[in-house]
Amino acid sequence: MKKIIIMCSFFVFAHSLQTGKEVFRAYCWGCHHETAVAFGPSFKFIATNRTTAQIKGHIIAPKSMYEILGYKRSVMPSFADVLNDKELEHITNFIIKQKDQ
Ligand code: HEC
Repeated sequence: MKKIIIMCSFFVFAHSLQTGKEVFRAYCWGCHHETAVAFGPSFKFIATNRTTAQIKGHIIAPKSMYEILGYKRSVMPSFADVLNDKELEHITNFIIKQKDQ
């Protein structure tokens, strides 16, 4: 029984979010919406107006990007220590796809 519990908790910690939608729901949804303005700009606005590098840059280091993007202040937390490389790819692709929504 103990073994099973240890194996299960290992699975939970090793689990990485598999799709952009999962990353979005887990970390971004409180502040961003796909197509409407929420606390932060919509992903559709971002996809239409930014390059992939700008999008990734802001997710990883909002404090060094917000002025370049025209914001007076930044309240978005950095996700550098939260997302792994794959999750960053997934969420960036998810944002870019909103362009056509
Ligand atoms: C606490 C609220 C909050 C959370 C959580 C949050 N954001 Fe943001 N985001 C903002 C706000 C507000 C801005 C506007 C600029 C700033 O504050 O840095 C922003 C700006 C951005 C921008 C740049 C906007 C532009 O004009 O190009 C991107 C890209 C972005 N967020 C992606 C994400 C992603 C992806 C996640 C989830 C992994 C996320 N954000 C989570 C609030 C948030």
